[in-house]
Amino acid sequence: MNCTLQIFLDDRWVDCAEIEFNGGLCQWNHLVAYALEHPDAPLSLAEPVDMDIRAARTMPAFLYDLVPQGAGRRFLLGQLQLPDGPDADFPLICAGAFNPVGRIRVAEAVDYLEKHLARHPNARDLPGLTIDDVAGRSAEFAERMHLHGMLGTGTTGVQGAAPKYLLTHDRAGLLHGDAVLPDGDATQHLIVKLPRGNSAADHKVLRNEAAYMRVAAELGIRTHMDLPTLHGDVLLIPRFDRIVRGGKVVRLHQESVASILGLSGFDRRPSLFDVTAAIRRVVTDPAAETLEFIKRDVLNLAMRNTDNHARNTAVQRVDGQVQLTPLFDFAPMYLDPEGIARTLRWYRPNTQVELTNWADVLVALPVPDSERQMLARGLNQFAVQIERLPDVLEEQGVDHDIIKFLALSVDAQVRQLQAL
Ligand SMILES: Nc1ncnc2c1ncn2[C@@H]1O[C@H](COP(=O)(O)OP(=O)(O)O)[C@@H](O)[C@H]1O
Ligand SMILES: [Mg+2]
Repeated sequence: MNCTLQIFLDDRWVDCAEIEFNGGLCQWNHLVAYALEHPDAPLSLAEPVDMDIRAARTMPAFLYDLVPQGAGRRFLLGQLQLPDGPDADFPLICAGAFNPVGRIRVAEAVDYLEKHLARHPNARDLPGLTIDDVAGRSAEFAERMHLHGMLGTGTTGVQGAAPKYLLTHDRAGLLHGDAVLPDGDATQHLIVKLPRGNSAADHKVLRNEAAYMRVAAELGIRTHMDLPTLHGDVLLIPRFDRIVRGGKVVRLHQESVASILGLSGFDRRPSLFDVTAAIRRVVTDPAAETLEFIKRDVLNLAMRNTDNHARNTAVQRVDGQVQLTPLFDFAPMYLDPEGIARTLRWYRPNTQVELTNWADVLVALPVPDSERQMLARGLNQFAVQIERLPDVLEEQGVDHDIIKFLALSVDAQVRQLQAL
């Protein structure tokens, strides 16, 4: 089985690489013409554009960012009549990666979508939906999702466990499936996220995600200028990997830290020291991004966002600068009914013992001493913000029982940061 990857450059899709997966061996290479013409536009910041043929037992790490997960995965497995498991990953991208987050797609998956749409002629040129149609999940919305069969709305192109749709506003402010709305009609790109499950706790997590994001913004963490908003039990998240400019859509390079770490597969748990090192290798300003990443982790701890796995942090390239994307998937995950313990931790290099104090983490970070001092100062100043957290949580409408529950973890962070 093989497939061709395409990348969106200068307002068009360009063939850039081919991948072959046979008998447990995955080989891939850039197309020669692509390597010659676009040496500056890599598929992954960890993979230089060259003419080498790479071979491995697994798919290259960056492809795992395109593998459908959650509801989109289950839907496609049914369509393809495949049992679930790692062997399904490659067939799943060949069918489902026609419109992923970021700027890479699979040509064969685009054909798959076309065939799907041909079977549902009514799925094209449907009138748009309003936010209320979506939030109320009206009959209209259900029919639309069925017609697009999860495909036009792009569920297979966005990762994570919660059911979600990629919807796009047209000029009249109505919503369409992202994959079926022409770029020329698009004005704003959104992720529509529903609760992970049906329990009250699932609803509570999603309800508080918008407030959590406002808190992070208030504390000076990098957030998208348009923050998520809650409509009923539906979260509308403006996307930061698409920019509408002069009637065109710019698709930005976006890649998870799992990808820049070269982690093939899911459920890998690198030490946060390794994650930091990987971020530093690819970003334009390593010192600034290290401080930003650690501040986010201070908030993860203070606000008990335990689900800090390597696909919940990503980097992007904007105007030539590589940096962490704005924050996403930041929520009171300690409430999740599946009982999610903090996923990634600071395991000291060499000893692999977990460090739980920022002073120890800073000592163990392999950075120049001048930078270590700068990090300590930056985090020490951040203590002032964290001290305000109880008030900010209140102001931004986080549920009271959550605020109460966070009191201890907020205090612990304030004390640690003040001691730096
Ligand atoms: N605002 C955004 N702009 C662009 N991509 C995003 C945005 N928010 C999330 N993503 C991407 O969508 C994926 C799924 O979203 P996430 O909020 O992590 O869902 P889940 O709660 O199901 O894990 C993320 O891993 C990230 O790649
Ligand atoms: Mg996620």
